[in-house]
Amino acid sequence: MRLTEPLWAGVALFTAVIGITLSSYWIWHRSIGADAAKFNRKATSLPRPPDELGETSVVGVLAGSGLQQTNPSILSRDFPRFDDERVLQGRYLFERHCAACHGRWGDGRGELAEGMHPKPRKLTAGVFKFRSTPTGSLPMDLDLERTIRRGIANSSMPSFQHLPSRDVDALIVFVKTLSSNWRRQAQPSMPMSLPAEPAWLYLTVESETHRVVGKELFAANCAPCHGERGDGSSEIAKSLEDVWGQPCAPSDLRHEGLKCGPELMDIFRVLVTGLDGTPMPSFREAFTDEQLWDVVAYIASLRRKPAMDATKAEELDEP
Ligand code: HEC
Ligand code: HEC
Repeated sequence: MRLTEPLWAGVALFTAVIGITLSSYWIWHRSIGADAAKFNRKATSLPRPPDELGETSVVGVLAGSGLQQTNPSILSRDFPRFDDERVLQGRYLFERHCAACHGRWGDGRGELAEGMHPKPRKLTAGVFKFRSTPTGSLPMDLDLERTIRRGIANSSMPSFQHLPSRDVDALIVFVKTLSSNWRRQAQPSMPMSLPAEPAWLYLTVESETHRVVGKELFAANCAPCHGERGDGSSEIAKSLEDVWGQPCAPSDLRHEGLKCGPELMDIFRVLVTGLDGTPMPSFREAFTDEQLWDVVAYIASLRRKPAMDATKAEELDEP
């Protein structure tokens, strides 16, 4: 009697896996798969699914999904199912817009990746630079949306500003199926609280004292990597590497077009969260909010085109 129980459980599990795989395959077939492709051929403006999305690979993914969905420890979490319509749509959009660089399976080895620097991210690693969450955690959907919409300056990651929100949402859901980190780590991580920009930041006179403090903090904490003038030329700059074993030079902070974004708030966020996978650490514990803003004020003063402010505008108005 005891022996037959595990046997029945095994049979039930096997049937469930096969059942889910078959039903997922049917949904795929009818939505973006082969049926839809036939339908598209008969004159329609609907985009055709990429030819190379072979049926065998789809069945493989769906069988994996069947296995996963019968695993009770995963069922309880808010993890997108592989037959979720957004995942299928996301895969289709990913093949179309992202796979040339990030690779079809997100392994970072797309056909354009060769010779690219920085390399397209290996999305299967589940390590993200641009987050509003603490060091070592996964980004929020909003962070991924910011990256996809804005692109990443000083890298080949383009902006997808033109995509409708539905497509960006589907891409985000799909990106989250590429690494098992999304299943292992508690989701969503809590975003770090970011204070509003201080009022003095854009006022030349008031920000001067903060800038002086910021300059000292910068010399002691940042210059060893970013160089005395923040131009990225330090002694160790050339020897720094990221966790993927690629050279990772400290940014030239005099530029307005930084990877993290064009706003001073973007710099603040980087100082709070650090850039995972790179030598750029978080300064959340080491500095107070005020000190972080002091450093931001100093970096703002390094920018070649200083931010226009009220005082400056008045000066310019004088004949
Ligand atoms: C022309 C090449 C290219 C294309 C196309 C491209 N990317 Fe990227 N992507 C990159 C590169 C290069 C990086 C790494 C930049 C870096 O690490 O500084 C990157 C990084 C990323 C990151 C990591 C961001 C982080 O916080 O670390 C995400 C997420 C991402 N891309 C998503 C996408 C999605 C989604 C698409 C399609 C809609 C896409 N990419 C299309 C080149 C590309
Ligand atoms: C151990 C070396 C190291 C230290 C110390 C360091 N940084 Fe960085 N920082 C880096 C590297 C490397 C990058 C580039 C990461 C990349 O391109 O992916 C970076 C990136 C940045 C960025 C993002 C730039 C962009 O293009 O988005 C900012 C802002 C920044 N650092 C500011 C600072 C400030 C301010 C300090 C001091 C409080 C500091 N860093 C200390 C290594 C360092």
